[in-house]
Amino acid sequence: MSLARFSLDGKVALVTGSGRGLGRAIAKGVADAGAAVVTTSRTAAEAESAATEIRGDGGRAISMAADVSDPAACTALVERTVAEFGRIDVLICNAGIILPALAEDATQQELDQTLRINVGGYLYCAQAAERHMTPQGGGSIVMTSSNASLVAFPELLTYNISKSGVDMMVRTLAVEWGERNIRVNAFNPGYMDHIMSRSEGYERNPAVEEMIRRNTPMRRRGRVEEVVSVAIFLASDASSFITGTVLPVDGGWCAL
Ligand SMILES: NC(=O)c1ccc[n+]([C@@H]2O[C@H](COP(=O)([O-])OP(=O)(O)OC[C@H]3O[C@@H](n4cnc5c(N)ncnc54)[C@H](OP(=O)(O)O)[C@@H]3O)[C@@H](O)[C@H]2O)c1
Repeated sequence: MSLARFSLDGKVALVTGSGRGLGRAIAKGVADAGAAVVTTSRTAAEAESAATEIRGDGGRAISMAADVSDPAACTALVERTVAEFGRIDVLICNAGIILPALAEDATQQELDQTLRINVGGYLYCAQAAERHMTPQGGGSIVMTSSNASLVAFPELLTYNISKSGVDMMVRTLAVEWGERNIRVNAFNPGYMDHIMSRSEGYERNPAVEEMIRRNTPMRRRGRVEEVVSVAIFLASDASSFITGTVLPVDGGWCAL
């Protein structure tokens, strides 16, 4: 079988939350696989540095600052992508936040903010992309979920809820948009080597590391490249008959 189906040559991808972390690595990965890429985050300098790195390696990339909790900003992101590169084939919804708190202490502000970014931001970008993907004849939408959608992690109530919402959004969009050849899938990382912003205090302590070791059959955190390859697969024609899936990338945690 030809490996051409795994290539993103000639495709155009928008990757949200790509100024740093997993999103930045995914943006670099899809560019290396051949796509022209739009990088974005609220921090303009980080988004631009990601695009500069891709261009420095011979790829095609531009950046745009945006807050994905604003539906108009999501529309503007997609419109800019199409204006610059002529189409949008791949949308990777990845921009997310985590606000650890005991369940009894979670506030309305924390719940609102988490849902507006982690769920709203994914939906508004997907809706804006659909408006172009349908007349184009299709596309692939990939959402960075988490195994926190499948396992109830303590002290992460608002985050867990938001990622469950992402999984159901994936299934619903896949069902509604399947006939339009728009595929919608999620991958669900476990604890990665890269620690999400603002979660350091929660994550880096011996009790958490022991919890990860005990619950992960592979007995380690995930490496960033181990989600990049999955994102490329789901974005590419190699997964052309896969839609509505949520795929754990967690060393077997969800198999326990
Ligand atoms: N790291 C892990 O172990 C892990 C595990 C499972 C799932 N995930 C998921 O993977 C995704 C990326 O996580 P990460 O670890 O790479 O996090 P990160 O290092 O904190 O990066 C998050 C990215 O999203 C951007 N962002 C946050 N809020 C935004 C908003 N309102 N509008 C636009 N951009 C926004 C951030 O930039 P600005 O702050 O400048 O906007 C940054 O570029 C998230 O969806 C997360 O839930 C991560």
